[in-house]
Amino acid sequence: MKNKLNIRMIALLLLATIAFQSTVSAQLKAETPEQKTKRMAWWTDARFGMFIHWGLYALPARHEWVKNNERMTNEQYQKYFEEFNPDLYNPKEWARMAKEAGMKYVVLTAKHHEGFCLFDSKFTDYKATNTPFGKDIIREYVDALRAEGLKVGFYYSLIDWHHPDYTIDRVHPQRQETDSAYVRLNKNRDMSKYRAYLKNQVRELLTNYGEISVIWFDFSFPGKNGKDHNDWGSEDLLKMVRTLQPGIIIDDRLDLKEMDGGWDFESPEQYKVEKWPERNGKKVAWETCQTFSGSWGYYRDENTWKSTPQLLELLIESVSKGGNLLLNVGPTARGVFDFRAQDRLKSMGEWMKYNNRSIYNCTEAPADFVAPANTILTYNEHTKRLYVHLLSYPMGNLTLKNMGDKVKYIQFLHDASEIKYRAGNGAERNNLQLQLPVQKPPVEIVVLEVILK
Ligand code: GLC
Repeated sequence: MKNKLNIRMIALLLLATIAFQSTVSAQLKAETPEQKTKRMAWWTDARFGMFIHWGLYALPARHEWVKNNERMTNEQYQKYFEEFNPDLYNPKEWARMAKEAGMKYVVLTAKHHEGFCLFDSKFTDYKATNTPFGKDIIREYVDALRAEGLKVGFYYSLIDWHHPDYTIDRVHPQRQETDSAYVRLNKNRDMSKYRAYLKNQVRELLTNYGEISVIWFDFSFPGKNGKDHNDWGSEDLLKMVRTLQPGIIIDDRLDLKEMDGGWDFESPEQYKVEKWPERNGKKVAWETCQTFSGSWGYYRDENTWKSTPQLLELLIESVSKGGNLLLNVGPTARGVFDFRAQDRLKSMGEWMKYNNRSIYNCTEAPADFVAPANTILTYNEHTKRLYVHLLSYPMGNLTLKNMGDKVKYIQFLHDASEIKYRAGNGAERNNLQLQLPVQKPPVEIVVLEVILK
């Protein structure tokens, strides 16, 4: 009798689970491609956002993976928690700098792999409010961004190198050589408890801070001694996220790439895509995340910083392939942006001030527009304007091929001064020969605005 009851209960439970799973998928799939495009419109129009990696790793100042790279234990890492006191933290300054650089949204690490929480979570003691600093960093950050009209985003690390139930895996600071060593170390660790913790924290982040526009989960690494969507409970988590914040935009690192509605954009990290990324023959939304130098967290002695022209080119090129750029700053342990980042943000902002029309609301140019050598094209399909970015400034002449029948007017973007042109001869009569001033205008990358018929 008892056995029968048990079997019945198990069957019922199984049925309930299956029913639940299919409602999850059904809910995630409910959106049409048009609805998705609409939901993401502010983001695709924005094109340029700021990533901020900040945590205890700002103190050692030698990469946000320092705990892992140097295989530190929680005890060895504890000194950074005890000394965390960013007395100059002023998110209003951060927001101002992001805005002046021309960025429209910001994504801050609410928790990175080290497990330290910048927010006042009920589910851990390992948080900013328990350090000498004593304040909820996320609260002030959210308020400051909103005051500047910037969209608010959170990065949340799926990986956690501090939580006692998070099982040791191949990217953990305490990673092992043999299977038996993993078994021994993980004997008392229970991923289901960590899964609940992770879900609870994401619920807090998406409940306690008003409207959140982006959530950036990081990252899955399936396979032997790895972690995938089952470890995170990704489907279930995603369903909660969409329920709490219906408008939110989500990256693609939950290991739900094959699932309809399992992600919103691709996130190529630290490389330039060759062309607009596609999936099943369709172009997809994408955002490349990039550092100014090689590290995400503040790295005092890292000297491979990209130059302003390189960074501008990265932004322009991303837009020319239909994508966004999320450019990262690693604040110091005092709470201010690395001065090298401040310098570049300022120069990018200077360019953006006069040229942002070639970035915002722009995308890949139609295939029949041919980019002259050393130029990158972007295109605004609403205003029907084509932007020609001159990576190396020509000496007076530039030819736009096969454009004669399409063009109404041409000007420099930065000062709206007319560019005169004439048609070519004979077979080239549909080409336009532009007459540019020989001297390069005082703009890092000069842009021509071509107003089409
Ligand atoms: C990687 C790194 C991480 C960084 C992230 C940003 O996944 O693990 O440190 O936060 O990239 O995309």
